[in-house]
Amino acid sequence: MLRLFLHTAALLSALPATLGQTSTDCNPLNKTCPSDTGSTQSTFHYDFVQSSDTLSEWSTLSGSPTVGDEGVELTINEEGQAPTIATSFYIFFGEISVVMKASAGTGIISSIVLESDDLDEVDWEILGSYTTELQTDYFGKGDSSTSNRWTWEPVDDPQSTFHNYTLTWTPAALTWSIDGTAQRTLTYSDAADGTRYPQTPVRVKIGIWAGGDPNNSAGTISWAGGETNYSQAPFTMIVQSVDIASYYPAETYTYSDKTGDFESIVMEGGSVTRLSASAADSGSGSTATAGCTQKVFAS
Ligand SMILES: *[C@@H]1O[C@H](CO)[C@@H](O)[C@H](O)[C@H]1NC(C)=O
Ligand SMILES: *[C@@H]1O[C@H](CO)[C@@H](O)[C@H](O)[C@H]1NC(C)=O
Ligand SMILES: *[C@@H]1O[C@H](CO)[C@@H](O)[C@H](O)[C@H]1NC(C)=O
Ligand SMILES: *[C@@H]1O[C@H](CO)[C@@H](O)[C@H](O)[C@H]1NC(C)=O
Repeated sequence: MLRLFLHTAALLSALPATLGQTSTDCNPLNKTCPSDTGSTQSTFHYDFVQSSDTLSEWSTLSGSPTVGDEGVELTINEEGQAPTIATSFYIFFGEISVVMKASAGTGIISSIVLESDDLDEVDWEILGSYTTELQTDYFGKGDSSTSNRWTWEPVDDPQSTFHNYTLTWTPAALTWSIDGTAQRTLTYSDAADGTRYPQTPVRVKIGIWAGGDPNNSAGTISWAGGETNYSQAPFTMIVQSVDIASYYPAETYTYSDKTGDFESIVMEGGSVTRLSASAADSGSGSTATAGCTQKVFAS
């Protein structure tokens, strides 16, 4: 249940009204929405240490991120803050690697999120209260009732060590890896026979928020590992670099119907127009990428 609920909790209690509105303002499952802006570039390398200008290529959804010696600093100084950055463009399947150090602090969550307009979502959640494990999670169409959505995975001291958190996301499978080692793989069929598999264009969002905010529900605070004590602020997560490989670069992505299925997404200005349903069958990992490239058709 957690992520959507927490999003809502965070929106209500902690965030300025902007965060999340892009995703909830127009849900393409319910109405006709503007196309998502993509990019025809297939790889992106953001090194926040080498160049502080790199941050200007990202959208700031909330707060005032700054660049320090080790990268972008997303800091909660007081209650109500949840600084978050996001790509200004959407990608439709790809590999996303974020090298970052999570924040310490009871109830403080450092997160890396893929989120689509119809609320498909993929998460890394590093909880400040836990130094040896983190959570992975996903949502299809915002459905918090899907079973076996989230897991705990081992990680070595993420609050004091930079790790490389990678999502490898194809129509067939989604893998969460830490420092190049796969921790969890979700296949298309694992997610309620594909109906709850994340499969629509997403933006990459990176942010920090207080799940332990005293105004949150008791359940949220408990999940977050306890109540946040703001007199121990600042709480800072640091993002060193981000690499993105976009598997289907295109100028725009449009939901052609209200199914939310990956086959319904129409790409303009890319090398293919739509993916075929069989792309979901082609195994996992990078081989799936080649597989689905062969199986796509241009209409
Ligand atoms: C669609 O709109 C109805 C009415 O506004 C709302 O109750 C429902 O939750 C919406 N569904 C989605 C998927 O946004
Ligand atoms: C938290 O609750 C208190 C007391 O109701 C309120 O004054 C404060 O504004 C709330 N904080 C946020 C961030 O909503
Ligand atoms: C992060 O891991 C991915 C997947 O193993 C790898 O391709 C990438 O080069 C790594 N990034 C860095 C900065 O080490
Ligand atoms: C909050 O943190 C401060 C500073 O470390 C400490 O003095 C205080 O006792 C803490 N409050 C609670 C309720 O733990």
